[in-house]
Amino acid sequence: MTKTEAKKQIAKLSEEIEKHNHLYHSLDKPEISDFEFDQLFQKLIDLEAQFPDLKAKNSPTDRVGGTPLDNFEKMEHKMPMLSLQNTYSAEEILEFEKKIQRQLKTEESLEFFCSPKYDGVAIELVYEKGELTHAITRGDGVTGEDVLSNVKTIRGIPLKLKVKNPPPRLDLRGEILIYKKDFAEINERNQEEGQNTFANPRNAAAGTLRQLDSKIAASRKLKMLTYALGYSEGADYESQGDFETQLKEMGLPHMPFVEKGKPKIKALSKICKGAEEVVEYYKSIESQRHDLPFEIDGIVTKVNSYELQGKLGNIARSPRWAFAAKFKPDQATTTIEKIVVQVGRTG
Ligand code: IVH
Repeated sequence: MTKTEAKKQIAKLSEEIEKHNHLYHSLDKPEISDFEFDQLFQKLIDLEAQFPDLKAKNSPTDRVGGTPLDNFEKMEHKMPMLSLQNTYSAEEILEFEKKIQRQLKTEESLEFFCSPKYDGVAIELVYEKGELTHAITRGDGVTGEDVLSNVKTIRGIPLKLKVKNPPPRLDLRGEILIYKKDFAEINERNQEEGQNTFANPRNAAAGTLRQLDSKIAASRKLKMLTYALGYSEGADYESQGDFETQLKEMGLPHMPFVEKGKPKIKALSKICKGAEEVVEYYKSIESQRHDLPFEIDGIVTKVNSYELQGKLGNIARSPRWAFAAKFKPDQATTTIEKIVVQVGRTG
């Protein structure tokens, strides 16, 4: 095969593989068998081995992990990653709306975009001209670490945005998660191998994201859900709802999946009119909490309109236009049934 032919083949295979990754991992609608997929993948691996200088920077083969790193590069967020104000009761949720209405000098009820509060690790994806170029952890909110090599192993995350004219820059924020069933498998495997187990899925996700060996990350089935816009150039959205619709079109994982056993798309986010509807939403999500495939610890409510968000601005380290409403922590009572006293080997 000539170099020109190889170049064409590599581009074609990469595009095809990424299409099938998206169909399988984001849309849950595979069009080819695992066997056929593996064959395409192997073809690309072979071609890249034969023509190493033709391997693209964002090749689908990066998804299986590469050479371990010595450390992660520190990187600043173009816009700091803020935290959220917390509310703890229905009264506080209603009070939140009143406070915003006073600031905006209006008595009309507001439109809120509500989502579950995913209990994972925050990440910012940087897309430059549609290409995924960095994946920065929250760090101290201003500077984080670029863990791109691990984030590329998440097959639901597009390496290229699925748009014709990608914006010069788009920073997208979301949560990295490990699903409950995958967490159980990781701990089982770690136990069998005599390694330490993780206390909960969030710790497992955080530990995996900090792995210098991306092959380990690739074996851990990380997932991501996108929920907010960071810095952007050349992208314009009217509201959180508008942004979420575009996320779907760009191929980003943003919709919570729910079904018995196999994931299937069911919308868990909701646009609520007025704080009373937010309270209802809070109760509904809390009642589904234990049936969801991933852990959540509350809900996040944002003023839907970006124009109003802009008017409201920030206080100290959190925006005035959003809040979290946490669920009560899970508690369980242990009954001690019996105490058996034993004498050790040495007396
Ligand atoms: S929106 C200005 N939406 O909650 C903050 N955050 O304290 C905009 N989180 O560590 C964030 N689920 O990682 C947003 N649906 C959701 C979220 C969410 C979880 C986390 C986020 C951050 C913390 C905010």
